[in-house]
Amino acid sequence: MKIVCVVSARPNFMKIAPILEAFKTLGTAQTLLVHTGQHYDDKMSGVFFRELGIPAPDVSLECSSSGIPQTAQMMVEFEKVCRSEKPDGIVVVGDVNGTLATAFVASRLDVRIAHVEAGLRSFDRTMPEEINRIVVDQLADLLFCTERDAIVNLEREGISRSRICLVGNVMIDSLMKNLERAKNSTILEKLGFAPKSYSVATLHRPSLVDNPESLCEILDAFDVILRESPIVWPVHPRTKKNIVAFGLEERLRSTPNLRLIEPLGYLEFLKLNANARCVLTDSGGLQEETTVLKVPCITIRDSTERPITCEIGTNQLAGVSAEGVLAAWRRVVRGEYGARAVPELWDGRAAERVAQEILIRWGRNY
Ligand code: UD1
Repeated sequence: MKIVCVVSARPNFMKIAPILEAFKTLGTAQTLLVHTGQHYDDKMSGVFFRELGIPAPDVSLECSSSGIPQTAQMMVEFEKVCRSEKPDGIVVVGDVNGTLATAFVASRLDVRIAHVEAGLRSFDRTMPEEINRIVVDQLADLLFCTERDAIVNLEREGISRSRICLVGNVMIDSLMKNLERAKNSTILEKLGFAPKSYSVATLHRPSLVDNPESLCEILDAFDVILRESPIVWPVHPRTKKNIVAFGLEERLRSTPNLRLIEPLGYLEFLKLNANARCVLTDSGGLQEETTVLKVPCITIRDSTERPITCEIGTNQLAGVSAEGVLAAWRRVVRGEYGARAVPELWDGRAAERVAQEILIRWGRNY
């Protein structure tokens, strides 16, 4: 059986690494790794391949523009790969544009699709990822879920329960596997911070960083937090461009206690987060990682597609106003931030379950 595994952007790499490894251990399928090139910088892509031991892609589509032209280009290039390689199925992870582009092509060419991290819904269709998730789940033959809410969402959208499997969280497989190695990182020494003496911020959602008012609202909240505690902020390329475009560079550079740094590799970032007093973010994956690390997380969004991280994890959904972020920060300071349990099946073995299920289901009529 030949299975094409697809990666596109930063949050995909830590999800695909354990899946490739699980297929390799089981040994009965040939995997082919395709990198669409949605993220192409060493800092956004290359370093993750090296640190997570992901083999070099068998095929690089090098689609490195952005937005809709990039998505269209990924479709054109991926069609060529599917026609020449004739895979028995593809595995796509997460909700980025490359996930949508390649799943769409596979469905047109009648190639089976497995979607890992299926069924997550923010119910906010202004998020590009929400559209990607809904479409990919409709196209997928096999849907792997990280939490039970996702199953309910899929069934509500008319997807048969027989195509859905609860497997846990492959991103947490990578976290568990690499936590010990991350401890050797010297990032805290490099930045001059003691454990739990700082918070980490990440912001990159278009709805937050593509307009100056919403970005400044968050910076106002950061100004108050910074009077009490430093913040380290690895700045995403989209956010960096906007900080320059909105003329905010000087304000940020001169803010005491705020450390803007370049995006970090997997191990350094894991060490930084594991030792943070709090994480302030608009990311999806970080809500899950902080839940497992038992680090308080303030999600600067109005919705989350990962409700379990708020219900039993360390996550608080703060909204996008300075007031909301500061109310959440106060709860962190008071030590009130969730029940701190790890969700069912987030045990480091999700990728094994994914690979086994694919081999069983697709092997039957192979
Ligand atoms: C994408 C994903 C988002 C994910 C995020 C993680 C979609 C819709 N969004 O958002 O879900 O959380 O990645 O980072 O797929 N750029 C670089 N270097 C790179 C990659 C991108 O400079 O290696 C620049 C691009 O040219 C573009 C901007 O960063 O201007 C944004 O990149 P893009 O892939 O469009 O989306 P992200 O905001 O990164």
